[in-house]
Amino acid sequence: MSYDVVVIGTGPGGYVCAIKASQLGLKTAVVEKLPTHGGTCVNVGCIPSKALLHASEMFAEAGHSFAALGVEVGTPKLNLKQMMAHKTQTVEQNTKGLDFLMKKNKIDVLRGVGKILAAGKVSVTGDDGKAQEVETKNIVIATGSQVSAIPGVEVDFDEKTIVSSTGALDLAKVPATMIVVGGGVIGLELGSVWARLGTKVTVVEYLDTILGGMDADVAKQFQRLLGKQGFEFKLGAKVTGVAKAGKGAAVTFEPAKGGDAQTLDADVVLVATGRKPYTEGLGLEEAGVELDERGRVKTDKHWSTNVKGIFAIGDVIAGPMLAHKAEDEGVAVAETLAGQAGHVNYDVIPGVVYTSPEVASVGKTEEELKKAGVEYKAGKFPFTANGRARAMAHTDGFVKILADKASDRVLGVHIVGFGAGEMIHEAAVLMEFGGSSEDLARTCHAHPTMSEAVKEAALATFDKAIHI
Ligand code: FAD
Ligand code: NAI
Repeated sequence: MSYDVVVIGTGPGGYVCAIKASQLGLKTAVVEKLPTHGGTCVNVGCIPSKALLHASEMFAEAGHSFAALGVEVGTPKLNLKQMMAHKTQTVEQNTKGLDFLMKKNKIDVLRGVGKILAAGKVSVTGDDGKAQEVETKNIVIATGSQVSAIPGVEVDFDEKTIVSSTGALDLAKVPATMIVVGGGVIGLELGSVWARLGTKVTVVEYLDTILGGMDADVAKQFQRLLGKQGFEFKLGAKVTGVAKAGKGAAVTFEPAKGGDAQTLDADVVLVATGRKPYTEGLGLEEAGVELDERGRVKTDKHWSTNVKGIFAIGDVIAGPMLAHKAEDEGVAVAETLAGQAGHVNYDVIPGVVYTSPEVASVGKTEEELKKAGVEYKAGKFPFTANGRARAMAHTDGFVKILADKASDRVLGVHIVGFGAGEMIHEAAVLMEFGGSSEDLARTCHAHPTMSEAVKEAALATFDKAIHI
């Protein structure tokens, strides 16, 4: 069999690339080693985590917030089995949807482990050990990422007491205590799920802040809010050991700046210290495809590797490990292969942490602007001064807008607040068009909405907010 393009891996990068390629008239096949499409995102990442985040948020709201709104439900009772069933059904709906999309777009699905034999040649080894070879004009590597344990520390994941994100999405009962190693996105999202269901969560983080890399104002406020939800934080703490202890596990850590080590025990330890590119068994060395110093497939501006006809996208290459970044690269590569001008604007990739409240950001942080010596102005507006937020009893958080001092062009927008993950997109669209804070502030916003806080923050950036 011979194709225009063979995509290895059907996570959000790979399956989107294949659909777009097929839509553009290219004869397309995908290679996937798992029984279902969707990769990390659909099977053990974005989708199951959001199903549990939503369900656990409803549980927490029923327990803590309904009564103040005049809705008395008594003490809500957790049915963890049903909550997990909701998660599983959500994943299944998505994977079935992807099967349908592969058929609809006439994409050949080759089940098995893909290996690049050379430019233009891929072998696919099925579960039965039998390999088939396919020829193709182009190969797209979209093999994603996998859990990376703590650098320099041996971690024996049993996915029951010492768990990665995959185990944390599937615990059989609510642990009384959990230590989360790593105060990044996974740790805070999955820590939130279990904290809402009753677990005492302690986060041990190497940096002096949670959500390192996010705007410091946002991270500080967010940490305070998580503290109110019962989270405990050990910051500036370097984890040096994780081991089973009794019925649970123990975490050893020492001050990052040096000092005495201490050990904490918990029923479950979630290790969430990042992910690394997945290239095992892909044959990259034999095919001569170069990796960078962090094991990522090296690509140029057009997602081409150093070998002609071999491209790479998503978590396996440089850039934020986000599903939408992988998807946009998938589309851009397909367009490039079809002779069009594929493009991704890496300056405008939103990031969302789906906690309660949500944290969302796009563009530069204040710290990044300072470091780059960019002169900027900032406007901020709190949700306590927003009518809709008060009506919904969701007044935590704020919107912060950063704009170039001279041109007023918006350079970064950061939101902590209910629905931040939806609100961020008006900022993304504005930034994509090179808009200013005045453009945003003069755009009529429906009343009463949480989004009015975005407008007010924009007003505060170029002039003065009205409602504060
Ligand atoms: P992947 O999704 O990792 O897919 C790669 C695919 O390639 C897999 O299906 C794999 O089986 C297959 N594969 C690998 N090697 C081979 C081979 N040799 N042959 C055949 N098939 C192969 N991102 C967000 O944007 N929003 C979120 O809310 C979010 N939540 C997350 C929550 C968790 C718990 C985790 C772990 C991640 C989350 N992410 C989220 C990150 C997101 O999942 C990844 O950025 C995204 O899945 C990357 O897509 P990808 O297509 O590059 O790779
Ligand atoms: P992360 O990079 O966000 O956070 C890892 C944290 O672990 C860092 O803060 C780091 O300082 C800390 N750490 C590392 N070594 C340590 C040590 N020895 N002791 C203490 N702390 C240590 O990685 P995470 O949370 O595992 O997520 C992986 C990827 O998945 C991220 O790149 C993210 O983009 C993606 N993801 C995205 C989501 C979203 O968009 N909502 C949700 C979940 C994951």
